[in-house]
Amino acid sequence: MLVTEQERLREQIAAWVDQYGSDRSTLMPVLQQVQKTYGRISNLAMQEIADRLGIHPVEVYGVVSFYSFLHDKPQGRFVIRLCRTISCDMAHKDRVARQLENDLGVKFGETTSDGLFTLEWANCLGMCDQGPAMLINDEVHTRVTPESIHDILEKCRQTLGASALTTEKES
Ligand code: FES
Repeated sequence: MLVTEQERLREQIAAWVDQYGSDRSTLMPVLQQVQKTYGRISNLAMQEIADRLGIHPVEVYGVVSFYSFLHDKPQGRFVIRLCRTISCDMAHKDRVARQLENDLGVKFGETTSDGLFTLEWANCLGMCDQGPAMLINDEVHTRVTPESIHDILEKCRQTLGASALTTEKES
């Protein structure tokens, strides 16, 4: 990260702490802001937040690693979260998981080298009668089969291609 980026990060965290207050209850909203703005919560950000709130960095790290929607590593453009709770487990989520890993060449918890896809486990998504269920970013996919994975991933790639074309036309 460049020095200017570090300064920008520090300034933004200071502004968020000013906005939300400098006590412990500010920790979660500031972490969410950092996650939303930077796509992850770096060690520098955790240190800065800890300093601003007067708490130990280990406490900040503990919160980041506890919640599945907070990340210390960069995430892919598409974050795939496959449900591993009992109904989806009984609906053969393992077969879907294997197919995802094979097609993407990464394990759960990892991101593809092109930065497109991150694979993660999720707990119940509330679609238990339609499992296996998974989320791709905020889009729910139900009754997913190993055979449907290829098309689903292809659609993600096409979405990206379409948005790149739109951006090119606009510029
Ligand atoms: Fe998977 Fe509920 S068990 S959605």
